[in-house]
Amino acid sequence: MDIERIRQQFPVFSMPTLKDTIFLDGAAGTQMCKTALDASLQAAIENNANLGGHFSTSSIAQREIDRARCAAAALVNANCAEEIVFGQNMTTLTFHMSRCLGRSLRKGDEIVLTRSDHEANISPWLELAKDLELTVRWLSFDLNTYGFNISEIESSITERTKIVALSYANNVTGTINDVAAVAALAKRKGAIVYIDAVQFAPHGVIDVQALGCDFLVCSSHKLYGPHHGILWGRLELLEALIPYKPRPTSDKPPFKFETGTKNREAIAGALGAIEHLAWIGREFGGSSEQADKRQQIVAGTRTVVEHEQVLVQEVLEGLKGFTGIRIYGYCEPIELCRRVPTVSFTLDSTPSEVVSQHMAERGIRLWYGNNFSTETIRALGLDENDGVVRISLAQYTSQDDVHRFLSAMDNFS
Ligand SMILES: Cc1ncc(COP(=O)(O)O)c(C=O)c1O
Repeated sequence: MDIERIRQQFPVFSMPTLKDTIFLDGAAGTQMCKTALDASLQAAIENNANLGGHFSTSSIAQREIDRARCAAAALVNANCAEEIVFGQNMTTLTFHMSRCLGRSLRKGDEIVLTRSDHEANISPWLELAKDLELTVRWLSFDLNTYGFNISEIESSITERTKIVALSYANNVTGTINDVAAVAALAKRKGAIVYIDAVQFAPHGVIDVQALGCDFLVCSSHKLYGPHHGILWGRLELLEALIPYKPRPTSDKPPFKFETGTKNREAIAGALGAIEHLAWIGREFGGSSEQADKRQQIVAGTRTVVEHEQVLVQEVLEGLKGFTGIRIYGYCEPIELCRRVPTVSFTLDSTPSEVVSQHMAERGIRLWYGNNFSTETIRALGLDENDGVVRISLAQYTSQDDVHRFLSAMDNFS
């Protein structure tokens, strides 16, 4: 992959004020690619109308949403575009969907949550459990491998389990969880499986058919698009669920879950972001113009993953030499296929907040703290506020970015 050509697709790198900036904050939100920005702008200028009108701006707006749904369906390998629901962000979609799923739950039913999840896939279910008096069971993760323990999964998911909510990749440790194995166990017990793929989506090929889950959610703003959420749900389930919606809104999925006026600028931008991934597949991944969108997206994602794996290996090798460093999610030997390029660490000598300030002064943007993964931070035995220093690589991260970050770390050696 030609990193310079990739960076040219991101207007932020030609802004004079941001020229020397290093973005290592992609896990919190990536920079927007040009195709996403152009598509959002076009939606706001050329087809700015509500849906359902007989005039051109309205029909073009509808066509763009239909195209975005098809592209998102290709991204996750859905059966059809009707399985894609757009919403404000992953958190809001999950609160909404948890309420809809809750309509069929009763006091004493069980749900399974994990300590490897962001609050966005914990709090909605805890609120539901409080309201309906559900029993919550927790899956922990192994502090050596950072993955789930299969025997614990087997004992936690029972005939009483109605929902299992878990993350595809942890936003602190970077661990890719074996969601297919959990889904298989859960489905055997008749439970619904709800997957948070926010952190996995930019760094891996999603295939909901192979995963065997029922719902999967991700965010366009971690995928080089604007702030918006994308939910995939199995069509029979979406059809059966009773939504919370205004009466005149359609009773059919996905429309029944998309309440109010749609954020068409964001949906158009999400389409632009997926098109960008397909473009990488065509340019660098060996996928042809003739290949279908799914094949191009898969090729694009694999190309990006290859690039990121080289860099994350360099980061991990570089960091492990520092004295008094603890890297979370790192175990020997490094299995790059089991992690996304997000690396969190603490220094015995220095609070994470101080490291973050030091980096910010050098134009290096990264995050510190609990990153909304309080269960993970607690399980790691860390301070809930100071948490970790977290860097996350993206498709536009260059080797020079990595070198500059590692040399800025020299201050703490
Ligand atoms: C793993 C994970 N899940 C969910 C979210 C929340 O996503 P959204 O901003 O779309 O609500 C985040 C945000 O950082 C995350 O890292």
